[in-house]
Amino acid sequence: MCGIVGYIGEEEATPVLVNALKKLEYRGYDSAGIAILGPGNEAGAGHSLVVRKAKGALKNLEQRIATEIIRGTSGIGHTRWATHGEPSDVNSHPHTNVSGKIAVVHNGIIENHAKLKEMLRESGVTFKSQTDTEVVAHLVDYFYKGDLFEAVRATLDRIEGAYALAFVCENEPERIIAVRKDAPLVIGAGKGENLIASDVTPLLEYTRDVYYLNDGEIAVLYRDRVEFFDREARPIEKKTSRVEWDVSAAEKGGYEHFMLKEIHEQPKALADTLRARIKTYATKTINLEEIGFDASWAQASRVVISACGTAWHAGVVGKYALERFARIPVDVDVASEFRYRDPIYDPKDIFIIISQSGETADTLAAMRMAKKSGARIIAITNVVGSTLAREADLVMYTWAGPEIAVASTKAFTTQLMCVYLIALKFGHLRKVIDDAELAKNIEALEGLPALAERLLAQKEDIQRFAARQFHKTKAFFMGRLFDYAVSLESALKLKEIAYTHSEAFAAGELKHGPIALVDESTLVVAICTQTALFDKMDSNIKEVKARGATVLVITWEDEKYFDSAADEVFRIPRTLDPLSPMLSVIPSQLYAYYCSVMRGNDPDKPRNLAKSVTVE
Ligand code: G6P
Repeated sequence: MCGIVGYIGEEEATPVLVNALKKLEYRGYDSAGIAILGPGNEAGAGHSLVVRKAKGALKNLEQRIATEIIRGTSGIGHTRWATHGEPSDVNSHPHTNVSGKIAVVHNGIIENHAKLKEMLRESGVTFKSQTDTEVVAHLVDYFYKGDLFEAVRATLDRIEGAYALAFVCENEPERIIAVRKDAPLVIGAGKGENLIASDVTPLLEYTRDVYYLNDGEIAVLYRDRVEFFDREARPIEKKTSRVEWDVSAAEKGGYEHFMLKEIHEQPKALADTLRARIKTYATKTINLEEIGFDASWAQASRVVISACGTAWHAGVVGKYALERFARIPVDVDVASEFRYRDPIYDPKDIFIIISQSGETADTLAAMRMAKKSGARIIAITNVVGSTLAREADLVMYTWAGPEIAVASTKAFTTQLMCVYLIALKFGHLRKVIDDAELAKNIEALEGLPALAERLLAQKEDIQRFAARQFHKTKAFFMGRLFDYAVSLESALKLKEIAYTHSEAFAAGELKHGPIALVDESTLVVAICTQTALFDKMDSNIKEVKARGATVLVITWEDEKYFDSAADEVFRIPRTLDPLSPMLSVIPSQLYAYYCSVMRGNDPDKPRNLAKSVTVE
């Protein structure tokens, strides 16, 4: 998804902006650009605004800048993920007005851009690009009467949609203006310099003090201060928040890719997410004060979970876990469906909204709809200060640390940890599980980080298997109950980064259609951790074997049941059957990673995908 950066200070802005854009590469992009305000650039005397942009990787932009040097101590930059108009130099941001004196970068979508374009064309504007964003540059120009702030305010009254926007103007080199609505934007408060970025990561090299901008607020950045206003130009007081995590946590730390690093961080991430919530009184218990867990939860008659992508898969596991441990009905739906299907609410519902980034457009829309119903909204997110965290009633953080690779791994397993904690606590409150059962499960959860560590130590087995299978163009993942939920996530991982056509099936559904696709070219991964259903899985494995498929079984380390049926068995350390997803997904993450690398892909930045999907 697009990334925005901006800098105003005493340093040369170009390297600062390029460096910051590199930190946002993980969001996914297909072109990049910067606009720099500097004395004497090209025009000679006075301040002038210079734009450089290039299709493709950031290094293309860097090459261009190396030969066409621009100087100046303020500017804005952008990585673009094409929505309106193909990836090209001209469609890249920043976009400028006709005279080239005003530049804008934008993350989001201007929904009424067609109408505005028509209006601006009639007023004599010729458009250069196919983007929705260019209308914003011309609109600001249209309203500009010597005050960029007022022109931006007038523009905001006209544009509809989602946006984080940053503006610079040649006539006002002393300031950058930034606004946001339904798209992320953070401001870094430095010493003699101030910055903006789509998330905190690019700011950390410069400052740990950040301002979070709320929807509808306008920030005016000067070298030595930042001023905030509401849409009516009334000043707003804002306090900085201190970012506690380290820059090194957002770097690769010796691993070839962020994804591999993040897969390996899962034992720690699981432990961190769990530790904060286990309290020992007379016995060990789960403490969920952060989400207001108390006896009033007993009033709830339903839990509704909504999320997108991997986070939705965590929700599917959540449904199985809540139904198993708490015997409460659970609806789980992808946010893009939920928001448009006119769902039925009950103020007694408990909503759980899951999002790694806390910025996914559909997920936020689902959360806002649910909020109107008067139900209790619990957010599970990884990003402190994200929009979801700020707007939900209550927040449970996944302590996974920054997740940079586009394909989610440690965020997923920590989301699972959160939903299990809720399910167990809820089950205990509802007297579905007794003290002993709760204690047994807590102990099993506490054992998981070490088991995940042990599993990761066998990663070469998966690597060897991938070396034999990575060329396969078709992969099916199948399982039952928790294993079905993990199959969904496993198939997604392989699609995302290996670009292999992969599907997940509830194993019992195989004979209702998918088996027609099975032949010698098919890899079937059967996830088998639900002991009560081993016989059923065994039949499904035999069915696909009989049609020529190669079968990998993922099962418990001490389990011999599938040894003769499978072509290969990958064994995971034993835990309680219902808790298996936090371990059983790891082999699939590794398999997808190795296939991606073997196919020559970049697993951290898969084609066409974005880490944080802040548009619909
Ligand atoms: C994108 C990412 C996925 C992620 C999904 C939801 O598609 O590539 O990895 O699962 O968005 O993101 P969220 O931040 O809401 O969990």
